Amino acid sequence: MTTETATLSTAAAQLSEKIANKTARVGIIGLGYVGLPLAVEFAKAGFSVTGIDLIESKVERINAGDSYIQDIESAEVASLVEAGLLRATTDFSVVAELDTINICVPTPLRKTKDPDMSFIVSACQEIAKFVHPGMLAILESTTYPGTTDELVLPMLASTGLQVGTDFFLCFSPERVDPGNARFQTRNIPKVVGGVTPACTRLGAEFYAQALETVVPVSSTQVAEMVKLLENTFRMINIGLVNELAMMCERMSINIWEVIDAAATKPFGFMPFYPGPGLGGHCIPIDPFYLSWKSKQAGIEARFIELAGYINGQMPHFVVEKVQNALNDRGKAVKGSHVHILGVAYKRDIDDVRESPALDIIHLLQRRGAKVTFSDPYVPSIRIEEGILTATDVFPAVAQADVTVIVTDHAQVDYAPIVEKAPLIVDTRNALRNFAASNVIRL
Ligand SMILES: NC(=O)c1ccc[n+]([C@@H]2O[C@H](COP(=O)([O-])OP(=O)(O)OC[C@H]3O[C@@H](n4cnc5c(N)ncnc54)[C@H](O)[C@@H]3O)[C@@H](O)[C@H]2O)c1
Repeated sequence: MTTETATLSTAAAQLSEKIANKTARVGIIGLGYVGLPLAVEFAKAGFSVTGIDLIESKVERINAGDSYIQDIESAEVASLVEAGLLRATTDFSVVAELDTINICVPTPLRKTKDPDMSFIVSACQEIAKFVHPGMLAILESTTYPGTTDELVLPMLASTGLQVGTDFFLCFSPERVDPGNARFQTRNIPKVVGGVTPACTRLGAEFYAQALETVVPVSSTQVAEMVKLLENTFRMINIGLVNELAMMCERMSINIWEVIDAAATKPFGFMPFYPGPGLGGHCIPIDPFYLSWKSKQAGIEARFIELAGYINGQMPHFVVEKVQNALNDRGKAVKGSHVHILGVAYKRDIDDVRESPALDIIHLLQRRGAKVTFSDPYVPSIRIEEGILTATDVFPAVAQADVTVIVTDHAQVDYAPIVEKAPLIVDTRNALRNFAASNVIRL
């Protein structure tokens, strides 16, 4: 899709110029895992950036130069704040002074697995009060195809301003991968699709000022669907390999060895790995945005439902594995001490949202186990019974009847753990280099 040819209104041409000379005032709504790195990237590119969040303590920390996101250094935030390039506020009225607005608020699922659009709606209600000619709004929150045109556009257009002429609206999926040292906001290609060609052109020009690669697409719906394809692809392939792991267990085949050998094929295969279950804000959630929308279009998203079911079985599979391992040693889960090594939903991050560790702990406690945990990144977790505080790895692993590796953080030194723990269930193949009789793999 070429954006060059889009003819620009006066408001668009003025905004284009402000973007080009970096005088556009940038606003980021929602200063979380997505919004804060984006705000920092635009401030580093030389734009004046204002972050807006509802949580006072986050705003205060940003203004004090203190980062609460692991991938962003406090020193970096502090120097941008000091240079006057970054500030944060809870006051939406600043939108009136901003030229661009990126919306990075949460999009969780309701208990019924229906999309919870309340954060987007409340943010857009606030923006709508201050929409002005020459403003570009970009939704980045992961959502179902049609959200930008069907939900956001009517709210912003209710002001009487014309999209594509007076104000501009795009969708651009956020692809950030927390904890990934190689690919971060700046060098992950940015897909952007606007309501009109002028919107797409301005969106592309905007991102090109701070990010390395911009990929314009023909509509907001295509951009929304790109993200859902990416995450559904992951979710379904993980579901497939989790099902294969359960089959391999019955057939006494080492699934990890199978995958490693299959991955030597130089074309047509991409390795995915089994694990204790899905976690995080994206893979367990986003595909259900698509299945909800596709149901409305009269199509059952059967792959998504099936993969969701299989992935949801994995915490139970892990607990069965723990139970069998204890039974083989003449012990029962009830009354046993189980130590969970790693509770973050993936390696080298501190995020426990939707972490399978929470399900595994709950299932073990329900069966009467005494559960402790350690995690270099997570000091405490909230479970049904209240707050569970981390213990030290030692002596916990030596005292526990069984240690379950749920998250394979890179900084953990596994050799003394294998030496001291009486029994280990490894759900991540973290101990691939240890051939010890006390280690049981997923
Ligand atoms: N975390 C990831 O790895 C990731 C990756 C890609 C896409 N996403 C998507 O990006 C979006 C944001 O995710 P996140 O992980 O950054 O969430 P987050 O919970 O870390 O941050 C969201 C922030 O928005 C704020 N907020 C909520 N409602 C608001 C409102 N009405 N006005 C202003 N601020 C508000 C919250 O206080 C919070 O600070 C979601 O749609 C998510 O699916 C996340």
